[in-house]
Amino acid sequence: MLSHQSRGTGLPVVFVHGFPFDSRMWQPQLDGLSDGFRLIAPDLRGFGRSPAPGEGPLTMDSHADDLAALLDGLGIERAVFCGLSMGGYVLFSMWRRHRERVRALVLCSTRADADTEGARANRRALAERALREGAASVADAMIPSVLSSETRENRPDVVALVREMIEGTDPGTIARGQEGMARRTDSTDLLPEINVPTLLLFGSEDPISPVAVGDEMCRSLPDARMVVIPGAAHLPNLEDPAAFNAPLLEFLGAVTGE
Ligand code: MLT
Repeated sequence: MLSHQSRGTGLPVVFVHGFPFDSRMWQPQLDGLSDGFRLIAPDLRGFGRSPAPGEGPLTMDSHADDLAALLDGLGIERAVFCGLSMGGYVLFSMWRRHRERVRALVLCSTRADADTEGARANRRALAERALREGAASVADAMIPSVLSSETRENRPDVVALVREMIEGTDPGTIARGQEGMARRTDSTDLLPEINVPTLLLFGSEDPISPVAVGDEMCRSLPDARMVVIPGAAHLPNLEDPAAFNAPLLEFLGAVTGE
């Protein structure tokens, strides 16, 4: 079973981290939302404390199957899933393969389309850099785009945590994770079928998953609303937890009351 952190009792909510991070990125949600909810934050295969035996790409489908197995292991039939960036890609696989386990969705800083050839080439270059120069060099490359300039100036604790998570990821996992994302399926056609309540949370300054990408997904999803977190980039849950948690709490409250 995937290593995971958990808090509270009530409606199960599973938090799926982005790349190359781990369950620690959800600390402000684990600390701030545990009243009335059973919060579960796994480390995906290869990340944090979850091992990734073998070789080859860490695919979105294998992560989704691991999440279904985690629910089985915890005796949970259905959960709300909240995924950020790669976590969102995993949730599209989850919907494709295990939709009966999904009660509602929260999609943060993510996108439904597959990579362009250019994006795949960038991923393979970053994978080579990780293997050649180590994870610290990946942290140097990523931090300016995952955290807004406001966060980098004012939140040294967030910068330090992000660096720690990236530097703590094995370079081999970084390469296998990049390849897994490069091979992911385009999920754009899936959006109109996602008939569970969906909340989109995006940072206004995100250069990786810009607000326009969220707006377009929101228009294709049958039961979705979107909230933009001002001043945050790709990790709005860490950059401005209060602005992130408020709409999330409201959404979870509405799902509980259904
Ligand atoms: C993430 O935060 O998970 C990554 O930005 C996803 C990606 O590289 O596409």
